[in-house]
Amino acid sequence: MTATAKNSDTAFLRDVKTLREAAQKSLDQGAVTDDYKDVDRAIDLLQSALATEIVCVLRYTANSISVAGLNSKSVGEEFAEHAKDEREHMEMIANRIDQLGGEPDFDPKNLASRSATEYGHATTLIEMVEQNLIAERIAIEHYRDLIKYFHDNDPTTRHMLEKILADEEDHATDMHDLLEAHQGQPFLK
Ligand SMILES: [Fe+2]
Ligand SMILES: [Fe+2]
Repeated sequence: MTATAKNSDTAFLRDVKTLREAAQKSLDQGAVTDDYKDVDRAIDLLQSALATEIVCVLRYTANSISVAGLNSKSVGEEFAEHAKDEREHMEMIANRIDQLGGEPDFDPKNLASRSATEYGHATTLIEMVEQNLIAERIAIEHYRDLIKYFHDNDPTTRHMLEKILADEEDHATDMHDLLEAHQGQPFLK
């Protein structure tokens, strides 16, 4: 490799002196360094993901209890398992908002407007599964958009969102399998 090629390959690297100087400025910002682009926008986007997760925790929890009355223990256990996963997602996102210097918004009055998915009011088992499948599919698209946004700007947040996305894809598959099992035909083409 020529010296010129090597230099252009590493042109994005900052020297140690520059990094040390940048790190010593704005110590009150903790993990948020000077090169972070638009932290307010990042926090706002994560507040929406947080609201989505809270609504999913509430919906799956409510469904896991309602479905018990419909004599479907296995579906109730599946809903309860998903509620637990959504709670973990909720905590991961809330912790990341805190790390970025924001205050995670758990205020119930802001949930419906911030959440990408709806709470829903299903009464039958099939309606519950359908609503959860729709919610998971919205969450999947929402997380894909967020992953594109955070990309190189914030790899830590992107990595967290990629893990959550993989879980949501598992959840959607679980709901689809339940629909197939209870309807005897695929819901999705
Ligand atoms: Fe989730
Ligand atoms: Fe999910």
